[in-house]
Amino acid sequence: MDSFGIKTQIYFGEGALSRLKEIPYRKVLVITDPFVVESKMIDLITEPLREGGIQYEIFHDVVPDAPVDKISNGVKKFLEYQPEAIVAVGGGSAIDSSKAIREFSLKINNYGPVGLIAIPTTSGTGSEVTSFAVVNDTEAKVKYPLVSEGLTADEAILDAELVKSVPPSITADTGMDVFTHALESYVSTDHNEFSSALSEKAIEICGVFLLRAYLDGNDMHARQKMHVASCLAGLAFNSASLGITHSMAHQLGALFHIPHGRANAMLLPHIVEFNANINKHSRSQKEYLPAVKRYANIAHILGLSNYNEVMSVRSLVNWIQFMQKEMNIPLTIQEIGTITPDAYFAAVDKMADAALADACTATNPRVPSKEDIIKIYTKLWSF
Ligand SMILES: NC(=O)c1ccc[n+]([C@@H]2O[C@H](COP(=O)([O-])OP(=O)(O)OC[C@H]3O[C@@H](n4cnc5c(N)ncnc54)[C@H](O)[C@@H]3O)[C@@H](O)[C@H]2O)c1
Ligand SMILES: [Fe+2]
Repeated sequence: MDSFGIKTQIYFGEGALSRLKEIPYRKVLVITDPFVVESKMIDLITEPLREGGIQYEIFHDVVPDAPVDKISNGVKKFLEYQPEAIVAVGGGSAIDSSKAIREFSLKINNYGPVGLIAIPTTSGTGSEVTSFAVVNDTEAKVKYPLVSEGLTADEAILDAELVKSVPPSITADTGMDVFTHALESYVSTDHNEFSSALSEKAIEICGVFLLRAYLDGNDMHARQKMHVASCLAGLAFNSASLGITHSMAHQLGALFHIPHGRANAMLLPHIVEFNANINKHSRSQKEYLPAVKRYANIAHILGLSNYNEVMSVRSLVNWIQFMQKEMNIPLTIQEIGTITPDAYFAAVDKMADAALADACTATNPRVPSKEDIIKIYTKLWSF
């Protein structure tokens, strides 16, 4: 038996932030990253809170990739202040940190239910609607995806006004994270009709609006569309889970601090080739893996018409690499320029073990061996 539900109430469109005046909480802890405070974007949050007569304090010690030491500072703040709800404002790192802070704090002192309102300022992770939080053990250099229904936010507020300031390189990285969520959930072994519909719509929006948002950050129509696509893709993978692009990207983030979406974008063409395995059989399409048909559907949605499914998969791989080039995302690790071959290859074995153990690997459409993962990491250095 399968089931599909959306726990999070979603407020979206122009003026969505005015929801903050009406939230059913009197005392909230706003958790955000320093950028939101320094740029004064925080005023867009605190003003409606004040208008609604809601008491608040701000914790703005969040940094990219949700490291556990920062989370423990947040737990301390939470337990001192004892809010009725958390208002998480920022990219995936701020929202994931908030999820972890609530979860860990209530394990220490469960003084009653505490709400979570997630307000994304990037169009990327979809964390505002997922039961995932990725935390980073900086000492062990491992990123752990936590998965639990209890992590899911009660409300999400999608206001594209907050994304206008995202610079092109982060628009590119986070946009490719959206695309990867949609594509990995679409071919996941747990995909279903509900998740597939959400993935397809997210892919369609990325195909039309991602490059537009990258080229002109003030194109509010494109920004608004990508903000919704991010949430749709989040809902899709919350139901169907992901695959080894994410498992492998988590390691590149933990060890080499490659931004999450960028690591996904770099890996994705290789994973599509691996999952489709189209080079293996060239004669009869009957022999191809089921993922081939699903990738071909996606190529069709992107408008990449071809006369057979194999050609469609190839054109999908080319389209991903075209997007990388157009948006200045490196194709190889070598191209990044700051990672030495010695450091990279010394880490490959450890990264392969961790990627195999990652929760996202279980739903990849083709079961990888350790050698397969090592081969892909090796190819990624320079192909
Ligand atoms: N929970 C999930 O379901 C899920 C899914 C995918 C990824 N993740 C995790 O989310 C994290 C990545 O999140 P992200 O890609 O949103 O990036 P992020 O939150 O790490 O932010 C990246 C950078 O963008 C800046 N930024 C954020 N909003 C901005 C704005 N409006 N204008 C200008 N700059 C802005 C931040 O200050 C930061 O420097 C990773 O840790 C990843 O593993 C979580
Ligand atoms: Fe992601």
